[in-house]
Amino acid sequence: MITNQIGKPANRVDGRAKVTGEAKYAAEFSAPDLTYGFVVSSAIAKGRIKSIDASQALQLDGVLQVFTHENRPGYIWGDKNYQDKDSPPGSPFRPLYDNEVQFSMQPIALVVADTFELARYAASLVKVEYVTQEFDTDFEANIGKAYVPEQYKSNPPPEPWGNPDEALASAAVKIETEYAHPSEHHNPMEMHASTVVWGDGGKMTIYDKVQGVQNSQQYIAKAFALPMEEVHVISPFVGGAFGSGLRPQYQLFLAVLAARELKRSVRVVLTRQQMFSFGHRPKTVQRFALGASTDGKLEAVMHDAFAETSKFEDYSENVVIWPGVLYHCDNVKVSHKLVALDVYTPLDMRAPGGATGIYALECAMDELAYKVGMDPLEFRLKNYSERDQNEDKPFSSKELRECYRQGAEKFGWNKRSKEPRSMREGHNLIGWGMAHGAWEATQKPAAAKAVLSADGKLTVSCATADIGTGTYTVMTQIAADTLGMPLEDVTFKLGDSSLPMSPLEGGSWTVSSVGSAVKAVCDKVGEKLLKLAQQMPGSPLASVTFKDIIFADGQIKLKNNPAQGVAVTDIINQGGFEGIEEDVSNEPDKGQSNYGRYAHSAVFVEVKVDEDLGTVKVTRVVSAIAGGRIMNPKTAKSQILGGVVWGIGMAMEEETVMDNNLGRFMNHDLDKYHVPVNADVHDIDVIFVEENDDIVNPIGAKGLGEIGIVSVAPAIANAVFHATGKRVRDLPITLDKAM
Ligand code: MOS
Repeated sequence: MITNQIGKPANRVDGRAKVTGEAKYAAEFSAPDLTYGFVVSSAIAKGRIKSIDASQALQLDGVLQVFTHENRPGYIWGDKNYQDKDSPPGSPFRPLYDNEVQFSMQPIALVVADTFELARYAASLVKVEYVTQEFDTDFEANIGKAYVPEQYKSNPPPEPWGNPDEALASAAVKIETEYAHPSEHHNPMEMHASTVVWGDGGKMTIYDKVQGVQNSQQYIAKAFALPMEEVHVISPFVGGAFGSGLRPQYQLFLAVLAARELKRSVRVVLTRQQMFSFGHRPKTVQRFALGASTDGKLEAVMHDAFAETSKFEDYSENVVIWPGVLYHCDNVKVSHKLVALDVYTPLDMRAPGGATGIYALECAMDELAYKVGMDPLEFRLKNYSERDQNEDKPFSSKELRECYRQGAEKFGWNKRSKEPRSMREGHNLIGWGMAHGAWEATQKPAAAKAVLSADGKLTVSCATADIGTGTYTVMTQIAADTLGMPLEDVTFKLGDSSLPMSPLEGGSWTVSSVGSAVKAVCDKVGEKLLKLAQQMPGSPLASVTFKDIIFADGQIKLKNNPAQGVAVTDIINQGGFEGIEEDVSNEPDKGQSNYGRYAHSAVFVEVKVDEDLGTVKVTRVVSAIAGGRIMNPKTAKSQILGGVVWGIGMAMEEETVMDNNLGRFMNHDLDKYHVPVNADVHDIDVIFVEENDDIVNPIGAKGLGEIGIVSVAPAIANAVFHATGKRVRDLPITLDKAM
């Protein structure tokens, strides 16, 4: 039987290529006479470049050019306010546009040489004189100046409902509390890189590290005033991204600029330090005023967020939508304001707004649960929400209760003793904490193409990406499943701007959006196959419609009589078959918008805190997920594991520290910016609860890229409180704070 590819724990179809090194990243593509660019980064946070002297660098044999704002060609940046598909409102940073420095480590020159080492050395010889200007990178000092942006990046925060002020005033149990988390920087395994291959007649083939090849294509076409057809962007494999590749980054622009000016192939790779010059999760402070009745019924929620942005773009996230999704409460008021600093614009990082908003909300709710004297899980059940209150809609599906039940059972939650500092093992204090969370299940328009060739092989394509999440594998499964084929006969192509239109690979919407397009285009191939089968002499399918058949075991079968069917190979092998080619452009069903659509999670955590040293070990995590239909339990589990590991990093380690005297993030290296390593990661259990949803999209999958991280940091923080009796209200929970 080769039916039902969906739901099987198939190995990654690209697994072998990944582990053998055959899978190439952007900086691994080569070209004859390749040249190498090295970026010179600004030493100041704000001001003007008075002079830039590249003469010493240019004297070196093998240095080809030093590009700066002074010699960049005038034809670029024609459309200087061009916004890419992930741009927040504002005016995007334009590399080498003029002599203005807007943030520390801003790229101000590109040195191009015959070798990488020479370019790097020559970059050290570029002399820059600056006129510095006053700058402000102090978030805390500027919270008082926080403002409501003219336009939010996605939706504005929901309007209040009920009478939150009155309800809070009259609530029997109240808390007011404030939570904070720092800026965090993207540190994917693969550094940002672009290799531009210069071809005949100036045709460029651009290998870029990105989550949207068509976004990069449009960006370059706009920046360099080129027709789209002349810009070909390819990105077959991405060594981690989760937001850092949503916007085209400056190495792409610089590599293309150099290639066009030198008429040579150019590669630009950022250093690990330069990875800290863009793309951070914005520092956020969140204030809560919560009210409940003595029996734990939530009566008022006020949630106000203040988040960092740059001076030139209003970056915002959905930080405060979560009370309305996760709790039933009749009186709610939320706000989200921005604090503009002289930093580069923040950027989406895995579950932007969710990981942070839910962290603070879930810690605050834990505090309230203690104050009313309720078990944290019981408290959440008591205030369970059956509707998306932000928009007053029913949920398309919500199996969160089942997440609680299965997660708690697996964890052994009922053995928890309620009081903080009441569980110990030798000199370790033991803490058990929990939190729940949600993430949007979104579908975007997407297109796909399918070609069934005369040798019986199917190729399906879309310009999406695989950032390591398993896109290749799951799309192959969906196509194979739709046409009843073995995985080996199906190839899925992605990461090429010339393929059918794809949304950015982000937002946990790839399976839902691209997967739905893949299913639709394979259905069209199926319809053609049925027509051909019906023309065969004595066809058992002669008088049926598409609804009456299934594709399974390489055959078209009658649904109500699967013994009757026609083999697809027989259709292909009858004379005159020239292959089938179909395209679809798929739109989400309009009816979806009548429902709140979310994946949900419940996370249970055990920590052990060394009473003498304050070191915290996250010894056990159980993450129970309701994410709709699970396309591939193996890749799905990996998504959740990765999210949990990142959540451990968020709770315990990750923090970029700003020196406000220099306006610079100081720990711009993996030496000082800590991410979890093996020694930090212990038992992780992942549970997928059954959830059927035929509203969310045609394949019923909600997306799993982000839900895995959202409840982890608060569950850890709540466990640390349970262990120590001390509330740490700012991340990361380093040992100095824990005790
Ligand atoms: Mo995700 S932060 O949309 O890659």
